[in-house]
Amino acid sequence: MNTIIDRYGAILLSASLLTLVTGLRAAEADEAMRERGQTIYAEQMCNLCHTRDGASGPMAHVGGSLDGLAAKRDAAWIDAYLRHPQSIIPSSQMPKSTLNDQQLAELIAFLLGP
Ligand code: HEC
Repeated sequence: MNTIIDRYGAILLSASLLTLVTGLRAAEADEAMRERGQTIYAEQMCNLCHTRDGASGPMAHVGGSLDGLAAKRDAAWIDAYLRHPQSIIPSSQMPKSTLNDQQLAELIAFLLGP
């Protein structure tokens, strides 16, 4: 009887360890994705017209702050907007994105991240 309980306990323990490790890996993957997004944000010079985390470019007043964007927009909106800004905001001054799907996903992960 004891051995069954012991084994059950061991299975539960390994299951929770596995969940923990999987969770940590997922968090690491998210973090890596946001970091690549941050690089793209810098390379694309989004900073030119926007402020984020206190850093702003010479025309930051044009696009305004992107801090706390997650409270206002979701990934689908940002994706559609970056691909073709004028289809979402006809008067938009934002240039159309030339990034591929993977790069857009990384950039959006950064924009919606902490
Ligand atoms: C030439 C200036 C300019 C550049 C460069 C620029 N933006 Fe913008 N952005 C704007 C303006 C202006 C708006 C306000 C809405 C509009 O006119 O489309 C805006 C709005 C946004 C919004 C919507 C914000 C909200 O609160 O709804 C997001 C997201 C955004 N920009 C992301 C980016 C990203 C990411 C980049 C780099 C790839 C970028 N912008 C580069 C000018 C710019």
